[in-house]
Amino acid sequence: MKKIIIGNFKMNTTPSEFKSYAMALATKTKGTKNDVIVCPPYTHLGTAKQILAGSHIYYGAQNISEEESGAFTGEISASMIKDLGAEYVIVGHSERRGKFKENDKVVNKKIKTALANGLKVILCVGENLQTRTNKQAAMFVKKQLDDDLKGIYENELESVIIAYEPIWAIGTGKNVTVTEIHKMTDLIRKEIEYLYSEKAGRGINIVYGGSVGLTNYKKLLSNDFLNGVMIGNICLEIDNFTLICRENY
Ligand code: PGA
Repeated sequence: MKKIIIGNFKMNTTPSEFKSYAMALATKTKGTKNDVIVCPPYTHLGTAKQILAGSHIYYGAQNISEEESGAFTGEISASMIKDLGAEYVIVGHSERRGKFKENDKVVNKKIKTALANGLKVILCVGENLQTRTNKQAAMFVKKQLDDDLKGIYENELESVIIAYEPIWAIGTGKNVTVTEIHKMTDLIRKEIEYLYSEKAGRGINIVYGGSVGLTNYKKLLSNDFLNGVMIGNICLEIDNFTLICRENY
C-alpha cells in the first residue's frame, strides 16, 4: 500500500547542501510508490522549486505565519511559500508549540490560513511524558484535535495529514510500541468521526513521528492503520532516508 514519508529537516543544512541532497534524492527514489514530502527550512524552498518541481517529490515548509501579510517582521506567509511551489506546511510541531509558545488557537489560525492559500497541512499532535505517565494522553490529544480543527470543514480534511508525534519520542531514540501507536491512531480516527463523520474518520491520513529510523520503519510501514511516517534526524542521512522512501507495501 502507498505510504506517506515526510522528512522534517528542522533547522539543519544550508541551501547548497540541500541542493545536492534534493538532486540525489530525486534520482535515488525514482519509481517509489510512496508519497515523499521533504520540509526543509524556508531558505531552501527556492532551490526545492528548481530541483523538485515537476518531480515525484513534494516539498513544503515547517511553519507559516497565521497572518496573511503586513507588519510582522521576520515572518513568512502562506502565499510566499505557495509561490515557491510548496504544497505542504507543517503546523503545530511540538518544537513550535513548546519553544515558540504556539497554542491551539494559533495552530487553528495557521491551519485556516494554510488551507485558504491552497496548502496542505501536516498537523502535529502528541503528548509529553508527564501527560502519558498520568494516563492523560488520550484526553490531551483529543483536545488538541478539537481545538486545532475548530471551523475546518469536512471537505478540507483531504488536505490535512495528522502526524501523531509523542513529544517524549522525538529525537530521543525512544521507540513507542506499535500497539501504543495503534491505540492512538484508533483514538484519532474516532475523534475525527465524532467531529465529522465515519467516512472522515476512516479517510483521514495519519502518520507517526518520533525516532523513526532503520530499526523500526519496516514495522511501522507494514501496518494498515498507519498511512506513513514523519522523520526528523534520519532524513538528514540521505541513504537511510532513501531506503525508507523506497519501502513498498
Ligand atoms: P525525530 O523527529 O525523527 O528526530 O525524532 C521527528 C520530528 O520531530 O518530526
